[in-house]
Amino acid sequence: EFPNEVELIEVGPRDGLQNEPEPISVEQKKRLIRHLAEVGFSRIESTAFVHPKWVPQMADAEEIAAYCNELGFTQIALTPNERAIDRAIAMGVPQVAVFIGASTQFNQRNINRTTDESLAACAAVFEKARRHNMFVRAYISMAFSCPFQGEVTFEEVNHVCKRFVELGADEIDIGDTNGRANPRMVYERFSRLRDLYPTTTFVGHFHDTYHVALANVIAAMQAGVRKFDASVGGLGGCPYSPGATGNVATERLAYMLSSMGIATGIDDEKLKALVPFAQSLSTRL
Ligand code: HMG
Ligand code: MG
Repeated sequence: EFPNEVELIEVGPRDGLQNEPEPISVEQKKRLIRHLAEVGFSRIESTAFVHPKWVPQMADAEEIAAYCNELGFTQIALTPNERAIDRAIAMGVPQVAVFIGASTQFNQRNINRTTDESLAACAAVFEKARRHNMFVRAYISMAFSCPFQGEVTFEEVNHVCKRFVELGADEIDIGDTNGRANPRMVYERFSRLRDLYPTTTFVGHFHDTYHVALANVIAAMQAGVRKFDASVGGLGGCPYSPGATGNVATERLAYMLSSMGIATGIDDEKLKALVPFAQSLSTRL
C-alpha cells in the first residue's frame, strides 16, 4: 500500500556540497538555494554549524542561514554540539539536526566522540533547542553498515534511537550513509522501528552509492515512512565515509513518486531545469 503524498526534504545545499574539495562561492550557493525554494520544497537542509577546520565548505554557515531566512521555506541546519546550537540560535534557524552514528568508530572520526559520549553531549543540544522552540531532527548515520566496522546491528541502531526518543526528537532520520542498504534490510529495520516507536516520525536518508536508493525508498514507504531526504543532481557524500557518493537524486525520486500518483508539492519541470547548474557545482559529477 502506498501513500497519497510524501514530503521530500532537499538536502543538497548541506549534504550535497559539504564534501566538495574546491571552495564554492556564497553567491553560487545562494543561487542554488533560491532556485530550490522556487521548486516548491517546504524544508531545505541549508548548512552545518560545524567546525570549519573539519568541513571548510560549511564555513559560510552564518551567511547562508541569514539568506535562507529571507526566502520563505523552513531551513534545517546541522548542529552537532553546544557551540553549534548557539550559532544556530544566534541566526534564528527554526530547525536543527544532530547526527550520531550507530557505530562508535564512525562517531570518533565524524564528531570526535564515541557513541555514548555523543549521546551524553546531545542532551545539552536538545535542551537548548527546546528552550528556543526549535524543531529537532535527529540523524542516526551508518544505520545499515559502516565502512570501518562492517555490519551494523539493529540493536546498535536502536540504542541511539531509544535515546533520541527519550530526548524528544521531533523526527528521527535513518541514514544509509555509505549506500550499502538494500530493500529487505530497509523494510525490516523501518518496520521494527515503527513497531517499537509507533508515535515517532521516521525519515529515510539514502545515499545512492550502489544505485539501490530508489528501491530503498519503495521499501521504506511500504514500512510506513512518509518523509525522505534527497539531493538535487545526486550531489553529496559524507567526508568521513570513504567512497560514499551522493544522496538519491531529488529529480529521480520526484519523478518516480509523481509517476506513482504520490504528491510531493514539487514542480518536476523546474527541478529538472536546475540539475545542470547543481551538478556544475560539483567536481565529482
Ligand atoms: P571538536 O574539535 O571535537 O570540538 O569538534 P571541541 O569541543 O573539542 O572544540 C575544539 C575547538 O573547536 C574549539 O576551538 C571550539 O571552540 C571549536 P579552540 O578553543 O580550540 O579555538 N568548535 C567549533 N567551532 C565552530 N563550530 C562548532 C565548533 N565546535 C567546536 N560547532 C565537532 C566537534 C562536532 C564540531 C567537529 O568534530 C566537527 O565539526 N565535525 C564535522 C562533522 C561533520 O560535519 N560531518 C559531516 C556531516 S554528517 C553526515 O554527512 C551524515 C548525514 O548526512 C546523515 C547520513 O548520511 O547518514 C547527516
Ligand atoms: Mg548524508
